[in-house]
Formats: sequence, C-alpha cells, structure tokens
Amino acid sequence: MRAPGSNLAPAAVAVIALATSSDAEGTLRSAVEASSLASRMTIGAAVNEGYFDADDGSYSQTAASQYNLVTAENSCKFGATEKVQNQFSFDACDQVLGFAEENNMAFRGHNLCWGVYNPSWVDDGGFSSAELTRILQNHINNTLTHYKGKAVAWDVVNEAIEDSAPYGLKKNTWNNITASGDATDYIDVAFAAARAADPDTLLFYNDYNVASMDGWSAGKSDAMFSMVKGMRDRGVPIDGVGLQMHVGCGYDLVDGVRANMQRYSDIGVQTHVTELDLTCEQSASYDCTWSGEVEEQQGRLYADLLQACVDVEGCTNFETWGFTDAHTWIKGDSHPLPFYDDYSEKKAVAMMMDVLASAN
Ligand code: XIL
Repeated sequence: MRAPGSNLAPAAVAVIALATSSDAEGTLRSAVEASSLASRMTIGAAVNEGYFDADDGSYSQTAASQYNLVTAENSCKFGATEKVQNQFSFDACDQVLGFAEENNMAFRGHNLCWGVYNPSWVDDGGFSSAELTRILQNHINNTLTHYKGKAVAWDVVNEAIEDSAPYGLKKNTWNNITASGDATDYIDVAFAAARAADPDTLLFYNDYNVASMDGWSAGKSDAMFSMVKGMRDRGVPIDGVGLQMHVGCGYDLVDGVRANMQRYSDIGVQTHVTELDLTCEQSASYDCTWSGEVEEQQGRLYADLLQACVDVEGCTNFETWGFTDAHTWIKGDSHPLPFYDDYSEKKAVAMMMDVLASAN
C-alpha cells in the first residue's frame, strides 16, 4: 500500500504487505485487489476467533475470500489482554493476527484505551493520576511491542466524546489523568505511548455518531474534527480517524460522510470506515419489513457509502462490523450485514463490487 495522498503525514507511508490477488474470483476482495484502489484501500470485516471453525468452515472461508483486512471484534481490547495488572495474555488476539497472516490480510488493532469494558482492577483501583498514566503507558507499550510491525493501524482511543452538546469528553477512569488539568490529557498520553512503541503503525481515534458532518451528527462530528485538528496542531501523533457507522437502513447522510472524509483528508488525516452495519428495524418513520426491496435499499446504501470512500483519497479502509447476519453483535432480526445467515450474498455484495469495478 502506498500513502493515500501527498498531503498525508509521513507515518501514513507505513506499509504492510498485502496479497496482490486472492484465491477466490468474483469477491469483494478480488474486486478491490484488481482495481486501481488496491494500493490505497483495504476492504475489511471484524471477525471473532470464536467462530473460525463455525458453520463448517464457511465463516473463515467467507472472511478470507471476501476481505483483505480483519479486526478482532473483542479479543485485542484492554479487558481481554490485561485482565490482571501487568499480566498480558495475547493468545486470543494473536489468533486473529494469525488468521490475517495465513490469508495475506492486513490486521487492524482495536483498541487500546476506552472508557468502558475496562477490567475492574483499572476502574476500581483508586489510582492516582500518575499511576493511571503509567498503567495506560504500560498497557499500550506492551501491546504495541507485541504487535510491532504486524498491524497496519490501531484504534488508540475509542469513543471518548460525549453524545450531546457541548460535546466534551465522557467521564471515565482515564479522564483522571489530568497532567495539565485538561481532560484531553489522557488522549495525548495514549497516542504518545503508541507512537513510541511502534513508529510505523497508523494511529487512529475511533467514534460513533460522527461520520456525517451534516444532519443529526453534525455537532459531535464537528467536535471530533476540532479535537483531531487540535491534536495535529500541537504535534500529537494521530494519523487517522475511524468512523464507526452502526446506523439504520434509512440512513440518508452519505453526502455529509463524503464531505467529512474530505475535510480530514484536507488536513492530512486518513479516514477508515471501521464498524459499518446497516440495521433494518421497523420504526414509526421507516418501513423496514425485510423484502427484496429493502434488500435492494440496504445494498444501495452499502454501495453509496463505499462510493464515498472511493471518492476521497484519504479514505483507506472500508470495513463492516462482522459480515454475516449469523454472527453479529446487533440483537434481533434486523439483517445488518452483507451476507445472509447461510453466507449467501445479499444484493449489497454485487452492488459494492460494481463500485469497485467502476473505480478502474
Ligand atoms: C462490541 C462487540 O461487537 C460486542 O461483542 C461486545 O459485547 C461489545 O463490543 N463500538 C466499538 C466496538 O468500538 O468495540 C463494539 O464492539 C461495538 C461498538
């Protein structure tokens, strides 16, 4: 992979070897790898090592043939890798890295610092600011040293911004790291520790309700942009932002997503769509009873979002949170992912392949 734009940060030139072609033809992966986008963007999915043998191998076979990047759904998170203070267990996270390596896929790390799902020793330890700083640095240093040279990118900090105005930082344990009395201190500490441990992996901030700079997400999206721009201005080593995108089939802010990706690209910050799923749920304002028509509409939205990523040079990964409705964190019967329960393709797959083909 080459750097996606000449205006991007030097760290953006971090490269990892990707297969030049996949074994399977007629897949999302083969479409992106055959296209002019191959050197710029990956197509990814979150996977869970617990399912690698599931469904007679269909889970692994589909993941490896359709995608060229994977993220561990849970097993690389703080609560999984450092359950006990300073005792690191990377086995489950390593399984996902191993899967990526066996199948010539990129590996994306998720995540190093989050306000929720911390092990209880972190949240209940009553640590001072100085102790928390060391705990966070130690966690990041150990994790990124273990994965040095293996991960194309890491979500360094996850979901830090409040959901409503004035969009300050959520209160959490890490917030108590206030070296300068500023609530953003822990974020700077985390990024500095990550860069020190692995100079080549790309460092991301990842959040939800921020993908579009227009419409209902404008407030939080603008707050995140200011935060990231401020980090760049004061020399904090951030390379990119992750746009989660757990949204509904009726989502209608694609132009705002494209514009948002562009404003990041303009300041040299990459964007990854990190956690896309399109939930189809009946609501008062939206008729989403599953039908051929809804499948078509969902496919159109997957394709339009991929097109937005393709259109913006700084968008370098397009990734869904899971890939089959058989294994998704979304509860209920809401059909969020591009493959059915039995791994057959929804219309979304062909429609996304058309976008990739026409990028040539
Ligand atoms: C979710 C997983 O999918 C679930 O299995 C787990 O129980 C909770 O976390 N934002 C994130 C992801 O950044 O890590 C979350 O993943 C989904 C929301």
